Amino acid sequence: MHINGQYFQTIWADWHQSELMIIDQKKLPFQINIKKLKSFNDSFQAIANMEVRGAPLIGVTAAYGLWLALNEFHNDSDFRDDFLLACKTMKKARPTAVNLAFGVDKVCDAVNGVEDIARARELAFQCAELLKSEEIACSEAIGEFGCELIEQIWIEKGRKTVNILTHCNAGWLACIDWGTALAPVYKAHLKGIPVHVWVDETRPRNQGSKLTAFELHHEGINHTVIVDNAGGHLMQHGMVDMVIVGSDRTTRSGDVCNKIGTYLKALAAFDNKIPFYVALPTSSIDLTIKNGAEEIPIETRHDAEVRYAEGENGKTLLVPEYSPVVNHGFDVTPARLVTSLITERGICPASEDGILSLFAVKH
Ligand code: MRU
Repeated sequence: MHINGQYFQTIWADWHQSELMIIDQKKLPFQINIKKLKSFNDSFQAIANMEVRGAPLIGVTAAYGLWLALNEFHNDSDFRDDFLLACKTMKKARPTAVNLAFGVDKVCDAVNGVEDIARARELAFQCAELLKSEEIACSEAIGEFGCELIEQIWIEKGRKTVNILTHCNAGWLACIDWGTALAPVYKAHLKGIPVHVWVDETRPRNQGSKLTAFELHHEGINHTVIVDNAGGHLMQHGMVDMVIVGSDRTTRSGDVCNKIGTYLKALAAFDNKIPFYVALPTSSIDLTIKNGAEEIPIETRHDAEVRYAEGENGKTLLVPEYSPVVNHGFDVTPARLVTSLITERGICPASEDGILSLFAVKH
């Protein structure tokens, strides 16, 4: 997608320089800073510190990070143990998005059994490049499927602007290009369907007001930033036609884990009979678990993110020092509150049968 009219992806690699380039998302929207990652540790830190974030982008960065790890090993004969340790370590960079393990396992499988380190480097790089292009294709397909849902609502409401509420950032900045929840919005806009997006600010890190608003602005999409608690009020007053969010991990039974606050939006949407869609690539589905609330590891981040607000001119204390604070990064929306899942393989009910039907079709 675009920044100031120039086409960008969130990550790109230079094989010859052994470097990875990212847009440092901690600096957005106030500075557009391209950062070089030159080592395994650089890529690990970029994920852990959220210079890159969003489930698909975390997975792709991890895959390239393992290529960088192989570039750092000098002992040709016994790089395998070090490599397996790097894979294990990388999986710990953040706990919730299953795409992290997905990306690591892809590279690990590609390199499995290879004894020549130069060949292992080539295979790891090719694998990361392929994963990146597959994620772009998934996002674009999600966009096409989701656009049909927006178009349907547009026709039903007499071709008036479709109001879509989203939470956090599940746009191209969370992926490589297009996004998940925002891909249908971009496709609808390109098709001439008038859309307006209600952007939850998404405290504590403000991925909504900082990243979603930024990318919608640069694509010329009508949008309004709202406080996180406004959604229910807007829904009661007929100002939301549909909700679309992303997911960091969706269980085999259709429970959806996404940024903290998503569950409350789903409850409000359910109460107001507003469709609640989750857009995700199948790389965000964890077929090994069923019960999201019990089985998905929820990231707890530093309390400073809640205690301070971070803006263009630095940090401001919001919470008195004497009050304890807790910072859970994600929550789980039970499948029963999800209207449908929008994936690159099609739209399906948020249920085990629905999800398995996606995998039954050969792609
Ligand atoms: O903590 P973040 O910014 O990595 O959380 C991102 C989200 O919750 C997104 O909604 C999710 O990763 C889906 S990304 C297409």
